[in-house]
Amino acid sequence: MGFREDGQAALDWAARYLENVGDHPVLAQVAPGEIRSRLPAHPPDRPEPFADVLRDVDEVLLPGITHWQSPRFFAYFAVSGGEPGILAELLAATLNNVGILWRTSPASAELEALTLDWTAELLGLPEGWHGHIEDTASVSTIAALAAAREATGGKVVVCSEEAHSSVTRAARLLGLETRTTPTDDAFRLRMDALDLTDAAAVVATVGTTSTTSVDPVAEIADACAEAGVWLHVDAAYAGASWVCPELRWSQAGVERADSLVVNAHKWLFTPMDCSLLWTSRPDELRAAFSLVPEYLRTRDDVENISDYGPALGRRFRSLKLWAVLRCYGREGLQARIREAIRLAELFEGRVRAAPGWEVCAPRPFSVVCFRRDASDEENEAILERVNASGELFISHTRLGGRYVLRLAVGNERTTDDDIERAWKSLQSAI
Ligand SMILES: Cc1ncc(COP(=O)(O)O)c(C=O)c1O
Repeated sequence: MGFREDGQAALDWAARYLENVGDHPVLAQVAPGEIRSRLPAHPPDRPEPFADVLRDVDEVLLPGITHWQSPRFFAYFAVSGGEPGILAELLAATLNNVGILWRTSPASAELEALTLDWTAELLGLPEGWHGHIEDTASVSTIAALAAAREATGGKVVVCSEEAHSSVTRAARLLGLETRTTPTDDAFRLRMDALDLTDAAAVVATVGTTSTTSVDPVAEIADACAEAGVWLHVDAAYAGASWVCPELRWSQAGVERADSLVVNAHKWLFTPMDCSLLWTSRPDELRAAFSLVPEYLRTRDDVENISDYGPALGRRFRSLKLWAVLRCYGREGLQARIREAIRLAELFEGRVRAAPGWEVCAPRPFSVVCFRRDASDEENEAILERVNASGELFISHTRLGGRYVLRLAVGNERTTDDDIERAWKSLQSAI
């Protein structure tokens, strides 16, 4: 069969998958090694038909898939790879452009700049910031902290104890020390404990990984300005919510950041991977990363995005973001974000109304932290039981030393019925 027929079959497969994704057990119900053991140990000598690949995806790999696209995927940060983004990925792979310089893919370079400007406008960010795409927030933060190190000469990265582990990892990689600051009873960085001695940067989080708490960014910005310290804001998850004006309370102070990361692959309906990094100080990023070997020298009077981050060859990631922004529009994005928050509120209401259950943290966005009024072991057993049922997938965290369950809403297919099913499963897992 040719490309067209195989492509048709793959697209049919994708459409069927998305139509029925809610029917699969959400968490893959396989043992470690099981999938590999069902596959040939050695590569084929002769070419095989693509149809065989597709068949094996269905029969062998699918049981080993944890369904991130499922409406009852409630673990970590629940996400959606939106359909326009899926199709755009096909086009990007077809073009197979490698954006090392403007001239190796002018459309990719210019669309990336445009989509970052569009997204900045949608999120209400300051005009004129320089934006580009990295693969993940981990790498965006590495890029930002490399610039901070270059710009300040500081040796320490300061963040709250609720900051994501990628901050410590970036610091370690850059030879910087991490200083964690305690949080208050709403899991926000405590200003009275902020110590900026020898600091290169503060990483403030808007939407922490455990509870989605929001650090006092405006006050942190004051302290950073006074001490000459770089302010990087990690809004990997919650930054997307700023598309809704009523949620921009959490943006206060972000306009004074030196850099900001928002993951389009978290809550902007763009398939993995697509991390948006903006900076108000692009010269510092260039100083940290620009290095042009002879074979890449041109007389083009243009910007090369590879001067702003660790990668040279870059995927055409902006194509999928552009497709999502166009096909959903501001209103479509707002409706999806508001719906996720409404559904999280619905779930939170169920927990609050049920004796023997407790909500364990404020809920600024679409993540509910809760637990059964019982031992840590019993809560962990509830999590294991519901995840093993395949009905839903949730994850956990630890707050104030206690084991806490987390239900995150973010999939665009999630409905009231999915929330009720999740709640029923949890109750019957006691
Ligand atoms: C607040 C926050 N920052 C950063 C990250 C890292 O994201 P990525 O997987 O894109 O590196 C996460 C991951 O969930 C996160 O929750």
